[in-house]
Amino acid sequence: MNLLKKLQSYTTGRKIMLPLSLLMSAISSLFGMLPYIFIWLIIRELTSSSPTSTNSVITTYAWLALGTAVGGVVLYFTTLVLSHLAAFRAENNIRQNAMENIIGMPLGFFDNNTSGRVRKIIDDNASITHGFMAHQLPDLVGTILMPFLTLILIFVFDWRMGITTLIPIIAAMVILGYMMGNNSKQFMTTYMNSLEEMNTEAVEYVRGIPVVKVFQQTVFSFKNFYNSIVKYKNMVIKYTNIWEKPMSTYTVLINGIVFFLAPAAIIFMDSSQNHIGIILNFFFYILITPVFAQNIMKSMYLNHAFGQADEAIKRIENLVKTKPLTEPAKPEPITRFDISFNNVSFRYPGSDKNAIDGINFSIPAGSTVALVGPSGGGKTTLARLVPRFWDTDQGEVRIGGINVKKLSSYDLMQHISFVFQNTHLFKKSLLENIRLGNPDSSIDEIYKAVDMAQCREIIDKLPDGLDTKIGIDGTYLSGGEQQRIALARAILKDAPIIVMDEATAFTDPENEDLIRIALDKLTEGKTVLTIAHRLNSIKNVDKILVINDGKIAEQGSHTELLNKNGIYSGMWNEFQKSVKWTIGKEVNYA
Ligand SMILES: Nc1ncnc2c1ncn2[C@@H]1O[C@H](COP(=O)(O)OP(=O)(O)OP(=O)(O)O)[C@@H](O)[C@H]1O
Ligand SMILES: [Mg+2]
Repeated sequence: MNLLKKLQSYTTGRKIMLPLSLLMSAISSLFGMLPYIFIWLIIRELTSSSPTSTNSVITTYAWLALGTAVGGVVLYFTTLVLSHLAAFRAENNIRQNAMENIIGMPLGFFDNNTSGRVRKIIDDNASITHGFMAHQLPDLVGTILMPFLTLILIFVFDWRMGITTLIPIIAAMVILGYMMGNNSKQFMTTYMNSLEEMNTEAVEYVRGIPVVKVFQQTVFSFKNFYNSIVKYKNMVIKYTNIWEKPMSTYTVLINGIVFFLAPAAIIFMDSSQNHIGIILNFFFYILITPVFAQNIMKSMYLNHAFGQADEAIKRIENLVKTKPLTEPAKPEPITRFDISFNNVSFRYPGSDKNAIDGINFSIPAGSTVALVGPSGGGKTTLARLVPRFWDTDQGEVRIGGINVKKLSSYDLMQHISFVFQNTHLFKKSLLENIRLGNPDSSIDEIYKAVDMAQCREIIDKLPDGLDTKIGIDGTYLSGGEQQRIALARAILKDAPIIVMDEATAFTDPENEDLIRIALDKLTEGKTVLTIAHRLNSIKNVDKILVINDGKIAEQGSHTELLNKNGIYSGMWNEFQKSVKWTIGKEVNYA
């Protein structure tokens, strides 16, 4: 019932369609019964001992039988039209709703939910819901109603035969109930989980092929995919085996009512004079019981469909259950560009440990703070709290003294440039990619940004210059070149606050130098929070924070930290070695 309410709530604007379609479906089931009664009446006329009946009566019955049969079909058709109208609306609303929620998700949400996964979950489950509403739900009414109607008919004509018919039916129902109760709902969850796992592994397998080939590890990577298939197979077989005996008994019972009826009819004939009457009723029961059986069969699949639709809605709702970022009702304006962290803690959803734990520091406007520290220490997480990729669990991140939650997200994005570890360029022209930084910029401003980001040389060598589309016709840029284009975009944006997650892998020293120049232009005079992997680039920053285990382990300037002989000085020594190693000098392990 919960499911029905939920589905109905998604049909805004067409609320009446679904109930109407269910009503139509009920009427069409009634019509579906009538032809049988008219046929029975015809047989009765034909076998009547008093030949008073005329051809015209039989013809009337025949027409009525045909008319009600056609009427039933027409009504059923109307039912489907209505249910489809409701289902399309619901499917549309579910998708739209999910997308709207996803747009409001904190940006960090997309780390764990790739666009492919999001699309798949929404697509698959929205269309399951559609199928359920358009077809299975209207059929449900018939499935519930028909057995009742037939039950009435069964008793109206001959109660003894009625009872005889009921014996196998009740037995079958008991078995059915037993099977349904037998954790079939839990099965649905496991079933859909295995299916999703199998799909994910298949995608993972295909995606990993290049890596696999390079490392010659065919068997290893195939193993997960293979295991997920085996797991699915085992589960389905186990489930099928559970159903084997009850299902066979059930099918035999429900389709074999005639085997109960025939001997019963013979016995009744022995004790009655009205043989023709009994034969007549026997025929009627033979006519009507398959209708009954059919509907009971349908109800089995319905239970399955119900489970599936329920699961589908849950999956979509689970996907977007991460709290969307709240927008302040009265956003405050940003007037200063200093940043401060006040006792900030943050834990990833589902994790049992704080990724950021009681952090306090501030960056005066126009100065630079660098984050360094071991991998997994929490640098990226910390930096991402500034542009509200996630909201803090405790404490406040403030810009110009105002909690970032009190700033409008538009304003926040307008004032921060976030330079990612992995830049993302769109399959559009370079011009469009750079212009994203500031859609109102003139071509001169764009060229200026291009020059500052050291991109002139990239553009000059491309056939269509700035109008070259990347990713099409094999026009791909090297990693370092992509980064410089992304920097041009950030320079064009000219935001007063820069949050940078420095790329770990530069292509070559020459590229690195160019990127360094571009970065210097970008950060000139700005408030900067940067994550550094190459320590030489932060020797002159105002303050360095060593982040370890979500906490600030050390802080100070480069020289101060070296004198402490702690984590930083260790890292510096390591770094010196690696630099010597790269430029081919002798490594000094002392
Ligand atoms: N999206 C996420 N969901 C759950 N946990 C995460 C997520 N991203 C990071 N973590 C966890 O949070 C901790 C801090 O990770 P973070 O990426 O901030 O480290 P880092 O200092 O940037 O490391 P690196 O130098 O390798 O980039 C790690 O333990 C990591 O496993
Ligand atoms: Mg990181």
